[in-house]
Amino acid sequence: MKHVLVTGGAGYIGSHACKALKAAGYVPVTYDNLSTGWQDAVKFGPFEQGDLTDAARLDAVFAKYDPIAVVHFAALSQVGESMQKPALYWRNNVVGSLTLFEAMLKAGCKEIVFSSTCATYGDHDNVVLDETCEQEPINPYGASKRAIEDMLMGFGESDGLRSVIFRYFNVAGADPDSEVGEFHQPETHLIPLMLDAIDGKRDALTIFGTDYDTPDGTCIRDYVHVMDLVDAHVLGLKWLQDGKESRVFNLGTGNGFSVREVVNESRIVTNKEVPVVDGARRAGDCTMLVSGSVRAETELGWRPKRSDMKQMITDAWRWHQTGHYDQ
Ligand code: UFG
Repeated sequence: MKHVLVTGGAGYIGSHACKALKAAGYVPVTYDNLSTGWQDAVKFGPFEQGDLTDAARLDAVFAKYDPIAVVHFAALSQVGESMQKPALYWRNNVVGSLTLFEAMLKAGCKEIVFSSTCATYGDHDNVVLDETCEQEPINPYGASKRAIEDMLMGFGESDGLRSVIFRYFNVAGADPDSEVGEFHQPETHLIPLMLDAIDGKRDALTIFGTDYDTPDGTCIRDYVHVMDLVDAHVLGLKWLQDGKESRVFNLGTGNGFSVREVVNESRIVTNKEVPVVDGARRAGDCTMLVSGSVRAETELGWRPKRSDMKQMITDAWRWHQTGHYDQ
């Protein structure tokens, strides 16, 4: 059996990845401390509770399953929170990843797919971003992910650790079967917050900043469907198993949507009014993050199938209405 260790497998993206890995013939072993994930979301393989910074626990899990590779999602991932509590991000993301990489090398596991972010690029003023762009993060979250990328490159040189690094743009949508979906407590992401406002679970969506240098004054992001995103991870794993060299790929569609445009699309999809309040900018937010790369398509053969904005909101809305985890 081909075990793959999935750190953060109980989280939003990790749980969808476990479903895709199982469908591709792997056994995904979730390693998660449940700080932001849900045991209910672990449906596609074994669960091992543990923290990334716990070296002994990691050693035991590597010994138990002898995984062929690691898919590494576990991280704190909120831009706003990282501005308030940077030490949390350095400890959890950077020290945690270092502990994981050392455990991998000790166990002789030398292939990893890593979830990085377009937040490592920073603000490049209306430039579409490809993998060769300078990485100048403007928040501790992005800086922590860039540091982990640097570590991976270093361990590649020193120990032959091979990696596929994915720089995600904004992930949205949910499993169309509603087996898993997006559920953060508290929620901070635009689309689920908007759906809460639409069905009255919160008073309104606050738009963070209406004075950005964009056509309607709100931030622009490149949204990619979580099902498409996790498909890329299966391709990334195959890339490594085929013995190919370490590589960085953006995962975005190249289509930018402003916050107001996402609000309008949601109004159309749900056929309901979206209560909206204009608010101040959120510290750490970039003006525009849009992928300008076709590398994942040309080299990995990645073809996004569900990343149309209406499809993403439709799938998120279905999950919002029918799916949930026990708390
Ligand atoms: N936004 C609002 N109101 C809200 C929430 C968000 O206006 O209540 C805006 C944000 O200011 C931003 C956009 O909606 O312009 C998207 O915000 P999210 O919080 O949904 O996502 P982020 O762009 O902040 O961050 C996400 C992931 C990060 C990743 C990043 C890449 O959480 O891990 O996308 O852009 F790095």
